[in-house]
Amino acid sequence: MPDKKDKTKNETKGLRLYIRTFGCQMNIRDSELVCGLLGNAGYKMVEEPQDAGVIIINTCSVRQHAEDRVWSVIGAYKKEQLKRKGKLGEISIIGLIGCMAQNYKEQVFEKSPDVDFVVGPADIHKIPDIIDTLIKNKGLFEKKIWETDGLKRPEHIYHDIGYDSKKHTYVVISEGCSNFCSYCVVPFVRGALRHRSHKNIIKEINEALDKGVTSVTLLGQNVNSYQDGAVDFVKLLELVNSLKGLKEFNFLTSHPKDTTTDLFKAIASLGKLKKELHLPLQSGSDRILKLMNRGYTSKYYLNLTQNYRKIVKNGLLSSDVILGFPSESEADFKDTLNLLKQIKFNAAYIFKYSPRPQTKAMALPDDVSKAEKEGRHKTILDLQRAISKSKVIPQKSPLNAK
Ligand code: SAH
Ligand code: SF4
Ligand code: F3S
Repeated sequence: MPDKKDKTKNETKGLRLYIRTFGCQMNIRDSELVCGLLGNAGYKMVEEPQDAGVIIINTCSVRQHAEDRVWSVIGAYKKEQLKRKGKLGEISIIGLIGCMAQNYKEQVFEKSPDVDFVVGPADIHKIPDIIDTLIKNKGLFEKKIWETDGLKRPEHIYHDIGYDSKKHTYVVISEGCSNFCSYCVVPFVRGALRHRSHKNIIKEINEALDKGVTSVTLLGQNVNSYQDGAVDFVKLLELVNSLKGLKEFNFLTSHPKDTTTDLFKAIASLGKLKKELHLPLQSGSDRILKLMNRGYTSKYYLNLTQNYRKIVKNGLLSSDVILGFPSESEADFKDTLNLLKQIKFNAAYIFKYSPRPQTKAMALPDDVSKAEKEGRHKTILDLQRAISKSKVIPQKSPLNAK
């Protein structure tokens, strides 16, 4: 009697899979995990959607724009698939997974009838069986499948995946987020914060190192709050630093309210840890920071960055900023500009506020006009570009240039 995995393998052997990923590093990693699961079930990855019987779109809900792009590609992919099906009589299945899957659940089928299955981030391990069921039912009756009720991923999905002679990989250390910043959809689509055990994380990294990986990025929405028994984030960094075969590593993302001097000391002293920190600021106005539920003030943030630069000599510092949050005035915006001028980030990613379903900020009027958002966006980009440029160490000093 073949087990479940073998059965999937028999029915889908050689089936071609194309996966398109939107969103953050977490989604990039999740797509790799899905490829690992389906690769083990006998699927062959292809580079172009028109060559695939199964197309999976791994999606992001963080801003409206991210979602709009997804709705617009689905129809185009289906057309390509059907052209091929007409010629070769093959399977044509489209799956929508990731944060939009969780955000819209079965409503996805109403918004886009071309989608055959919908799977949320905590249910990705079910994908091989779901596709298998869809193929079995093919021709019998039209069936759509959705799975969005999972709470925790089984540990096995993080193991037994190929690394294809890659040098770098992402390693998820925690899933979800419980911070509920008032503008952010992530806690709703990724669920409450839960940490993987440090033993499993180290095991996964060792497996990657055995396959030739030499560089890793530890991933979580708020890595600083990592805790597994007595192992906190700094302790985890020490454990990772001591792994044989690892050349370098870094981590994403830090939350200012949980960032400590001990972390800065670890960045300064651990030999393999990159001297860099991505520390999202979001706003330089204390009033807006409060409305955003960020849990710190601009003064606290400024002190933190000064402390970082004192302890981590020549450490890189980058950030995220949202402009046009509800009720943001010119004065609030100026506070952000001034803080950027003071701190001088090496890089900052600037986002226009986008109201998200279920979030607290959704109840506030989105009252900064489109034109104002555009204007502020340009102002802040120009400023940050000039700062970033001034921070780049020239290859040759002008004095030496001939
Ligand atoms: N957990 C990480 C990443 C969150 S999403 C963190 O806390 O930093 C990445 C960035 O998208 C955020 O830092 C924020 O700047 C931006 N963002 C999140 N929700 C947004 C929204 N509704 N509108 C505009 N930008 C948003
Ligand atoms: Fe969103 Fe805030 Fe969590 Fe980051 S820390 S994922 S911005 S709720
Ligand atoms: Fe990442 Fe977008 Fe989801 S930023 S966690 S893919 S909403």
